[in-house]
Parts: sequence; C-alpha cells; structure tokens
Amino acid sequence: MIKRPIHLSHDFLAEVLDDNSIAVDATMGNGNDTAFLAGLTQKVYAFDVQEQAIKKTSERLAQLGLDNAQLILDGHQNLDKYVEESIRAAIFNLGYLPSADKTVITKPDTTLQAIEKILERLESGGRLSIMIYYGHAGGDMEKDAVLDFIKDLPQENFATMLYQPLNQINTPPFLVMVEKLKEN
Ligand SMILES: C[S@@+](CC[C@H](N)C(=O)[O-])C[C@H]1O[C@@H](n2cnc3c(N)ncnc32)[C@H](O)[C@@H]1O
Repeated sequence: MIKRPIHLSHDFLAEVLDDNSIAVDATMGNGNDTAFLAGLTQKVYAFDVQEQAIKKTSERLAQLGLDNAQLILDGHQNLDKYVEESIRAAIFNLGYLPSADKTVITKPDTTLQAIEKILERLESGGRLSIMIYYGHAGGDMEKDAVLDFIKDLPQENFATMLYQPLNQINTPPFLVMVEKLKEN
C-alpha cells in the first residue's frame, strides 16, 4: 500500500540513524515519534510545552523499556539551552495534540526559530521531517510560513522534498523533508 506521509517521515529519518546518533523530537505529544527515535538512537531530546506530553511519553517509554530520551518541558525554540551535540535527525508534528488542549498549537514564529536552530546543528547528511497539519485555525499561516522558509534554503546546502496527498478531501497532513548536504 502507498506510504502515508507519517510513515514516510519515519522511514526518511531511520535511513540515517544508528546507535551513535542524537535526535530531536520537537513536538513530543503522546510520544509516538520520541519512542520511534529512542529505539534507533543513542539519545533523543524531546520537547513539549504541556505537562501531559511529558507524562504520556514517559509512561510509553517505560512500557517499551527505553531510557535514552530526555523529556523537556519547554518550547522547541529554546532547544539551544539543552542540546549541545550535533543532531543527526529531527522531527516536527505541527498543530495540536488531539487528546489534549486543542488551543495549545505550534506557532509560526517559534516553529521557524526551532527549525533554524535545528538546521544549524544538523550534521552533514542529517535529516529533518516536518509533518504539517493545517486544518485548524492558524494552521494555514504556519503552513505557509514553513513552506516559504524551506523554499528559500540554499540548494547548495540543503535538499528538500514535499510529499502530499493530492486527491484527499479536507486538509490532509503532508510531509516536508530536508537533508543537509555533505560538504565536498
Ligand atoms: C501534533 S502534536 C504532536 C504529536 C506527537 N508527535 C505524537 O507522537 O503524539 C503537537 C504538539 O506540539 C506541542 N507544542 C506546541 N507548541 C510547542 C512548542 N513551542 N514547543 C514544543 N512543543 C510545542 C503541543 O503541546 C502538542 O503536544
């Protein structure tokens, strides 16, 4: 069956991850991506602004026997306060967490700040997946801000791709992929 964007987002990152990798989950939520990354890496830094995300994710990691994720109750725009190493892979799931407070959404300014900080710290060959959900109020603005920013990245330094359903009704989420190119 054709891959959904969320599955491709994981496959794209898995290709570059190993036991020595540092990864970032910029939007922890229920911890799906944190758990996925923790299973493939040395360490994951996971961010969310809601206590509930820390609680859910730590329960999930404990169930899976994973203890290599640092769960940080702070905005992803502050990741430079926590992450000193270079990053092999990072993921964002933009929007709100369906099971929590739907007014707590990712915002264009802070999302872009975090993307910039991640791209600066990404290793050559490192990758970033951004899942864009934009059906909620404010989602369209964030989608446009992220797409504009990614379209402007210099092609000598970054390869970028878009993976998006074309005939699905409503506003299905889609995936933006970025790879930092290796220096010659
Ligand atoms: C679509 S959900 C993430 C889903 C998650 N990846 C999962 O596996 O369940 C978006 C999350 O981003 C969080 N969020 C909103 N603003 C944030 C910020 N500035 N920094 C970090 N997380 C933020 C929300 O609290 C919410 O949990």
